[in-house]
Amino acid sequence: MSPEHPLSASPAWQALAPLRSRALELLLARRFADDPDRARRYTATGAGLTLDFSKQAIDGPTLAGLLAMARERGVEALRDAMLAGQRVNPTEGRAVLHVALRAPLDAQIAVDGVAVMPDVLAVRERMLAFAEAVRRGDWRGHGGEPIRDVVNIGIGGSDLGPRMACEALAAGAGAGPCIHFVSNVDGHALASVLARLKPQTTLFVIASKTFTTLETMRNATSARAWLLAGGLPEGAVARHFVAVSTNAAAVSAFGIDTAHMFGFWDWVGGRFSMWSAVGLSIALAIGAEGFRALLDGAHQMDRHFAEAPLEANLPVLLALVGLWNRDFLGYPSLCIAPYAEPLARLPAYLQQLEMESNGKSVGLDGHPVPVPTCPVIWGEPGTNGQHAFFQLLHQGTDVVPVDFILPLRPSHGLPDHHRLLVANCIAQSKALMVGRSAEAVRAELSGAGLPAAEIERLVPHRTFAGNRPSSTILLPDLSPRALGALVALYEHKVFVQGALWGINSFDQWGVELGKQLAGGIADELAGGPAGAHDASTAALIAQARSALDAS
Ligand code: F6P
Repeated sequence: MSPEHPLSASPAWQALAPLRSRALELLLARRFADDPDRARRYTATGAGLTLDFSKQAIDGPTLAGLLAMARERGVEALRDAMLAGQRVNPTEGRAVLHVALRAPLDAQIAVDGVAVMPDVLAVRERMLAFAEAVRRGDWRGHGGEPIRDVVNIGIGGSDLGPRMACEALAAGAGAGPCIHFVSNVDGHALASVLARLKPQTTLFVIASKTFTTLETMRNATSARAWLLAGGLPEGAVARHFVAVSTNAAAVSAFGIDTAHMFGFWDWVGGRFSMWSAVGLSIALAIGAEGFRALLDGAHQMDRHFAEAPLEANLPVLLALVGLWNRDFLGYPSLCIAPYAEPLARLPAYLQQLEMESNGKSVGLDGHPVPVPTCPVIWGEPGTNGQHAFFQLLHQGTDVVPVDFILPLRPSHGLPDHHRLLVANCIAQSKALMVGRSAEAVRAELSGAGLPAAEIERLVPHRTFAGNRPSSTILLPDLSPRALGALVALYEHKVFVQGALWGINSFDQWGVELGKQLAGGIADELAGGPAGAHDASTAALIAQARSALDAS
């Protein structure tokens, strides 16, 4: 690591480095034994959420050092600059104002002196009115039938947030259309959804910030063809297609009346866009009141982020713990384990949020960042994960920190199930921390009557050291408000980590090359001239092309 870099050369970083070995050596369980107040000391609350990070390898000096680093790196000033509408995304020359999307009516937020709230509120009201009209059956299909199915066609940020939220909030959605999601250009995705639907009662929401994304445009074109092949006239497209985009010209060129377009702005990043009109599918699923509650939950977290001191600030603490684990303790990934089946898509959502934002190796100054940045984000809901990959979490050769996410009240009427779920969540974080000593294994096996030699043979396999870090985030329930606060928590965590690493969390240049190459290869597969390729790529194209030609 280069000591000259402003991050690694900072006094706080230099002070933190020597704390690493103690963090790795001192058992987490020992820390609790030594400090009866530890759980309280390392638990913070905000916007209705509780963050318990006491099972992380953090102590007073570490936390003080990390907070000092946040101050040295100017996290507060950068946060305030973002919230004030400054162009904190310099590689695209844009402001970053997803907070405006959930701000109250009287918020004073401007970009280059132009207030943004009037437009935000106008689109929000129009979109919510539309969602309610569809839900009530006032907005009907071309033949006069009510809309029963909505297909959200979009990808990345135009899919993951709405898909995750619709699934998370389905239990409280009330009466409304059934919402389907198609993102992949793989025709299996569209075909399997359309096979279940009737054109006369289906509404397509084409969600794309740019309205040029290959997957979305291909799927939208095929969806329109399906509608027309189903017997509806060209004029029916207006009743069955609406668009969510920043690109009115492309929407119009596609054939969707811009009167049926819900806009947003360049200062809304795709992965931060579920609060904008990109959330139309969420509003269609849960209604205007639910959507407003989602926005309000996020706004409560925005206020907490803006106002709470750093030492009590949930996004800041979550970011600092993550940076400590990544850069000082060397852990390469972070497991997201929601103990809530409806949050099954949260890990995928956070993958984009964190990895597309902070999966970068060059800083804002154009120089390499001298330390590891975003870890690999992955996960599955508990308790399913326990019967799959948790083995590695407990006994694997890599230490993988875990974020356990637990809504305290379920959205179902099966309290016995919920008790078991909660017990398992809490048990896992404890098991990761305390592990299983050889003595405990010996006592258990000898209690079961195993002979001494057999016990000794099994001890190494059944022993594990524990001391594996985790955080637990408690939500009061799985309401729109709680979900809004949870998602905003991670959004701001991402911002803080980007600020600490000195990178731009809001661009995504790394995804462009593959898109460009795919365009050329698609032409070749369609019979165009061969491009200049390495031998592997050329052979793969040749084999794929003969299979396509034969089919
Ligand atoms: O390819 C990455 C990406 O640009 C994401 O950042 C974005 O969320 C997604 O594609 C979809 O983009 P759009 O909403 O413009 O279709």
